Amino acid sequence: MCSQGTRYIGVRIAVFNQKGGVGKTTSTLNLAAALAHDEPPVILLDLNPQVHLSSIHGNPPRESSRSVFALYAHIRPLESLVKVWPDLGHLIPAHPELKRTLKSLASVLRRRVERR
Ligand SMILES: Nc1ncnc2c1ncn2[C@@H]1O[C@H](COP(=O)(O)OP(=O)(O)OP(=O)(O)O)[C@@H](O)[C@H]1O
Ligand SMILES: [Mg+2]
Repeated sequence: MCSQGTRYIGVRIAVFNQKGGVGKTTSTLNLAAALAHDEPPVILLDLNPQVHLSSIHGNPPRESSRSVFALYAHIRPLESLVKVWPDLGHLIPAHPELKRTLKSLASVLRRRVERR
């Protein structure tokens, strides 16, 4: 990461693979740990309805409105969803309800691609 004065240039890293058990969660945690003492600060977004990463953080939210689901549903501002992850940075936790959201996002994207 690089910075110019006080203006930080952020980088978004997506860790994804359709296959299960290939090390996505482990890699995400290790990446976050490696970047934790750099700028800008690390913020983890758990987009997996299995909530593994959020469970490692501890006590994933019971209500979907307290999770990243709320961002897609436009019911809460991002700042209100962020949890501190000591020594790592921050986390916006997942919720099983995301499964439904991700399915509808996938069909929206599929329709857009088919229209081209
Ligand atoms: N580099 C590695 N070497 C050996 N074992 C690893 C490595 N990375 C991950 N593992 C182990 O592999 C297993 C699966 O890892 P992990 O949970 O990170 O995968 P995942 O892709 O997130 O799985 P899921 O699809 O279920 O979310 C875990 O037991 C983890 O400890
Ligand atoms: Mg995982």
